[in-house]
Amino acid sequence: MSSAAVSLQCVTARVPAKVNLELMVGPLRPDGFHHLATVFQAVGLHDDVTVELAQDWGITINGPYAAQVPADGTNLALRAARLLADAAGIDLPVHITIDKDIPVAAGMAGGSADAAGALLACDALWGVWSSKAALEDLAAELGSDVPFALTGGTAMGSGRGDRLAPVLARGRYSWVLALSDVGLSTPDVYAECDRLRSSQPVPDPTPSAAMMTALRSGDAVSLGRALSNDLQPAALSLQPRLEEVLSTGLDNGALGGIVSGSGPTVAFLVAGTESSLDLAVALTASGAAPSVKRAVGPVRGAHILTAASGPRGSYGAAGQTGPAGLRSS
Ligand code: C5P
Repeated sequence: MSSAAVSLQCVTARVPAKVNLELMVGPLRPDGFHHLATVFQAVGLHDDVTVELAQDWGITINGPYAAQVPADGTNLALRAARLLADAAGIDLPVHITIDKDIPVAAGMAGGSADAAGALLACDALWGVWSSKAALEDLAAELGSDVPFALTGGTAMGSGRGDRLAPVLARGRYSWVLALSDVGLSTPDVYAECDRLRSSQPVPDPTPSAAMMTALRSGDAVSLGRALSNDLQPAALSLQPRLEEVLSTGLDNGALGGIVSGSGPTVAFLVAGTESSLDLAVALTASGAAPSVKRAVGPVRGAHILTAASGPRGSYGAAGQTGPAGLRSS
């Protein structure tokens, strides 16, 4: 592709974290993944992924989690950018800057969010304008949770979690997220799940009627009761102190609590803003959770925040938006 076709120099995409409202884990597949039936919800905790035309491929991570993220070619965002470049036949390196607010190795799909952000931002920067389906195919190559980070909202995931279908969901929910200071590796948690279930038959996963009914009703109390996660026993086995986090939350007004994805973040559903403040204070005061965040869900998936024809430093004004007509997912 000729660089003359590229009019933008710098694009920023904003991407949300996720919680799994339900995560049914089926048998191990021959490819090393598990059959899943899951319900994702995107929550208002975001990373901002900026891509700028550069001499060479590169990446910088900013924020409190920077030291925990590889800043080299193994970074999922950089792999995403190069995957799209290869697929679209583009030879225009970018430097990626991630302003990271989604905790790392936390079960909230932060790495997947960064990959989705890089795909969407590069797609705009290079003027590729891929179809939604084409971007989702690339997303699925990068990781099981990446397609959902593009889509956002509330959605069902099947296959290895990458095949998405809409779900009829009402309501806006308040979440309190109890973070851990020690991460959990997703493959380790799946392996522990297999070990704990090794003596029992594992049925194919199917979404529960209780979850579907709760989502249709928009009733937070029903949703709180319906939360479930087959990976939770494995996460608790690897980090037993999460039991105390769960019981502290449930004793202090949460409508439901669940390990998020492969953990170790524990997500508590609460009745509203006031309850979320109360629970955040209780969790912090008890010492059960080293750090607590509040978020609402569902929120939209990856979307373009800013786009500029100059380098990053030249468009620093907060809230500046891109050219009219710039697509978001
Ligand atoms: O695709 P993703 O990068 O999210 O997967 C990370 C790891 O989690 C996989 O390598 C696999 O060990 C485990 N996994 C799994 N079954 C899934 C999704 C992930 O076993 N459906």
